[in-house]
Amino acid sequence: MFEKIAVIGAGTMGHGIAEIVALKGYVVFMCDVSEEILQGAIKKIEWSLRKMVEKGKLSHDDLTSALNRIKTTTNLAEAVKDSELIIEAVPENLELKKEIFSKLDKMTCAETILGTNTSSLPISEIASVTSKPDKVVGIHFFNPPVLMPLVEIVCGDKTSSQTVDRVLTFVKTLDKQAIVCRKDVPGFVVNRILEALIQEAAWIVYRGEASILEVDSAVKYRAKLPMGLFELSDYVGIDVLYSAGKAIQDRDKGVIISPLFEECYKNGWYGKKSGKGFYTYTGDFWEKPKIPPELADKVRLEEIFAPAVNAAAWLLRNKVVEKEELDKAVMLGLNFPEGILQMADKWGIDVIVQVLRSKQSRYGEYYRPDPLLEEMVANNRLGIKTRGGFYEYA
Ligand code: CAA
Repeated sequence: MFEKIAVIGAGTMGHGIAEIVALKGYVVFMCDVSEEILQGAIKKIEWSLRKMVEKGKLSHDDLTSALNRIKTTTNLAEAVKDSELIIEAVPENLELKKEIFSKLDKMTCAETILGTNTSSLPISEIASVTSKPDKVVGIHFFNPPVLMPLVEIVCGDKTSSQTVDRVLTFVKTLDKQAIVCRKDVPGFVVNRILEALIQEAAWIVYRGEASILEVDSAVKYRAKLPMGLFELSDYVGIDVLYSAGKAIQDRDKGVIISPLFEECYKNGWYGKKSGKGFYTYTGDFWEKPKIPPELADKVRLEEIFAPAVNAAAWLLRNKVVEKEELDKAVMLGLNFPEGILQMADKWGIDVIVQVLRSKQSRYGEYYRPDPLLEEMVANNRLGIKTRGGFYEYA
């Protein structure tokens, strides 16, 4: 559908996006500010493709063809010339993104779609510096893009339905699944839920209610998420999650960053990439912290997950996303074993509301239960136990 695609920024997300796009047969121009960064990115792509060959998921010929389809350049104009789709993945800095979009606007033709992989900055504000805000759209991949099946399509105030449809068709050609975040809300769908979850884990540890290992053990072995929340933070990057959380906090207080998280960020303990985050690392590429399963019962899952359920309820009440899409988002974007609304139905909506009220009385208004949850409790829609919650049960 597109002949040529440009990816601007060759960092963790940019190189992963270029890789997946090239794997699916597109010619991709990857652009960054230095040759050194670009060569580093190519090395990481080669490593990842070789892993797939090792595992029998890719032939050696396909590896070579994919690599041949990736062109690198430090020249933005060269990267975007004749590109029909551009995916920007530069650091999460609104001014930087606006500067780039202003340039892209002048360098591209009227039909070119200008996508941004931002994880939480306002699409409408990025689009405001262009002459074609109807063509500006969030195309949000998850880390690592090559393994994670979801792409979150985010509409700005002026994104046209035609642009969304074209991007949805493109995502299908990548063999990925998409959800559409219909409103440009802070954090969109996935990060609004993820940030509420991760920050709550960090608040629980900061308040001395449980240790890092106890929270991660509960999350990994009882909730059966693929990684503990501190493990995931180190993996994605504490700097990345901090700036996404800060963007949400500054815009509408949809999350409040915990001092524990802030301390890591301020000290430059970004996680795996800096050798230290919540855990320490020796430098092996795919190193995992050791999380003992026997600590899994030390903290209640509802205590960790209640603010994330509250964030999910906020998204539904504000008609940002449909409930099935919301659950699909956490299952495919974060590899949850089931949807967060399904989990809440199992725990009981009344239990979630009690936990939130208790936290509200101790720690403040951030924890006030969303009116949607209050209404569900008032209507006895408590989840599986009353055969109706977010979903109906026979
Ligand atoms: N390319 C190819 N192979 C890769 C790879 C890559 N980029 N990254 C890792 N691998 C390989 C590993 O080297 C390992 O290979 P070996 O078996 O040879 O050691 C293998 O893949 C991973 O195998 P595992 O069985 O250990 O891992 P897993 O089954 O747990 O899957 C995972 C890994 C998919 C990352 C999984 O742990 C997971 O889903 N974690 C959660 C990730 C997540 O939530 N991502 C979203 C973060 S939020 C975000 O990105 C949004 C944002 O804006 C901040």
